[in-house]
Amino acid sequence: MLSKSFAAVALLVASASAQLYPDQSPLNHTCALQKPLFSCPPQDPLLVDSCCVETFGGLLLSTQFWDTYTGLESKGQLLPKDVWTLHGLWPDFCNGSYTQYCDLTRQYDPIPSPNTTTGTPNGTFVPPYTGPNIGTFLAPFGKYDLLEYMNTYWIAQNQDNAGFWGHEFSKHATCYSTFNTQCYGPQYREHEEVVDFFETAIKYYKRFPTFDWLKAAEITPSNSTTYTYSAIRDTLFEQHGGIPFIGCSGQRYNTTDAGKNSTDTGYTVLTEIWYYEYVYGRPQEGGTVPVNASSTYLTNCAKADGAIHYYERTNGSVRVPTVPF
Ligand SMILES: *[C@@H]1O[C@H](CO)[C@@H](O)[C@H](O)[C@H]1NC(C)=O
Ligand SMILES: *[C@@H]1O[C@H](CO)[C@@H](O)[C@H](O)[C@H]1NC(C)=O
Ligand SMILES: *[C@@H]1O[C@H](CO)[C@@H](O)[C@H](O)[C@H]1NC(C)=O
Ligand SMILES: *[C@@H]1O[C@H](CO)[C@@H](O)[C@H](O)[C@H]1NC(C)=O
Ligand SMILES: *[C@@H]1O[C@H](CO)[C@@H](O)[C@H](O)[C@H]1NC(C)=O
Ligand SMILES: *[C@@H]1O[C@H](CO)[C@@H](O)[C@H](O)[C@H]1NC(C)=O
Ligand SMILES: *[C@@H]1O[C@H](CO)[C@@H](O)[C@H](O)[C@H]1NC(C)=O
Ligand SMILES: *[C@@H]1O[C@H](CO)[C@@H](O)[C@H](O)[C@H]1NC(C)=O
Ligand SMILES: *[C@@H]1O[C@H](CO)[C@@H](O)[C@H](O)[C@H]1NC(C)=O
Repeated sequence: MLSKSFAAVALLVASASAQLYPDQSPLNHTCALQKPLFSCPPQDPLLVDSCCVETFGGLLLSTQFWDTYTGLESKGQLLPKDVWTLHGLWPDFCNGSYTQYCDLTRQYDPIPSPNTTTGTPNGTFVPPYTGPNIGTFLAPFGKYDLLEYMNTYWIAQNQDNAGFWGHEFSKHATCYSTFNTQCYGPQYREHEEVVDFFETAIKYYKRFPTFDWLKAAEITPSNSTTYTYSAIRDTLFEQHGGIPFIGCSGQRYNTTDAGKNSTDTGYTVLTEIWYYEYVYGRPQEGGTVPVNASSTYLTNCAKADGAIHYYERTNGSVRVPTVPF
């Protein structure tokens, strides 16, 4: 099974095919008629309908950011008050590794990162996208409410939001079997799966109100107090049901005044949470089971007592959302 999956990856990278599994029928994807199979351990794509169960990346990561500014405030790109922002919904392999830019015919990322499919110079080059931004894809579907929601909660830093959404779609969403264009049948409308992916990413995001969960444990943004990794971890584990990956940036603890001479080299500014899920049937249906992040990659934050800053946002970078979370 592993070797078959690997062959699918290799084929995909080589041909940049729009179809992950070339034998897949465009007609038979009535998932309601099928038993919702579990995404991990991986199903064999040759034995199941890969439109109805995630056979390519069955470990879903619903990811969020805590930024204190966007860098594009002057253009009106602001952060929503008192809520973490959406980063993405990624399909990792069940073993925790992943692939990216799986279908270059659906490349809408203006700033591909990395710039090859493998991240190494010998991978296939991912050409920067120069067409109308991915946000414009929503208009033919009349999804202006979706666009407004995304402009409120799916916020980039130092990049315009739509470019960031294009990045998330092309780098990650093209790697799902269940968001493959073939899954939408003979009446598929161009970019239908893009809309479906955006709605699905939001469906998961709304389930994980990180700000409120932390607040309930009296962990709130502060430029005068600091927090401890284990308290943040335990709170989010209790609320979510799986231990998320907790990401930090900023200075390493051993380079700070408080951590001088410490052997704790973790970072000290809380910026990111990744919630892990397995899913029954299509990710779109949301029948998930929370799971722990890999025990070998739980955090890059400092673990010392009181080592973590959860910073207040910059004055002028925040607005009160007009559409509810
Ligand atoms: C993880 O799973 C994928 C897909 O099955 C496979 O291609 C890859 O080699 C595996 N990686 C490791 C480290 O086992
Ligand atoms: C499509 O449905 C037909 C009739 O049930 C079945 O014979 C065929 O195997 C199905 N094809 C796929 C790819 O599932
Ligand atoms: C791809 O990115 C790397 C750095 O990540 C850079 O050195 C290289 O020049 C880039 N290649 C192209 C063709 O832009
Ligand atoms: C591609 O380059 C990486 C290092 O940049 C190397 O590890 C890998 O073996 C190379 N793959 C091929 C197929 O040459
Ligand atoms: C802190 O840790 C990093 C990573 O191990 C190391 O490179 C650096 O030299 C250390 N700095 C100090 C001041 O100890
Ligand atoms: C760090 O180590 C130096 C030299 O060993 C020592 O003088 C200093 O007091 C130590 N600082 C702290 C905060 O422990
Ligand atoms: C997740 O981690 C917690 C805490 O270490 C542990 O109690 C729990 O059993 C783990 N869950 C799974 C499914 O491994
Ligand atoms: C809090 O501190 C962060 C990090 O230094 C800074 O970016 C932010 O503007 C500060 N917020 C307020 C309200 O002072
Ligand atoms: C941010 O605004 C608050 C009150 O609105 C004020 O107390 C604080 O000094 C401001 N911070 C900065 C860095 O301007």
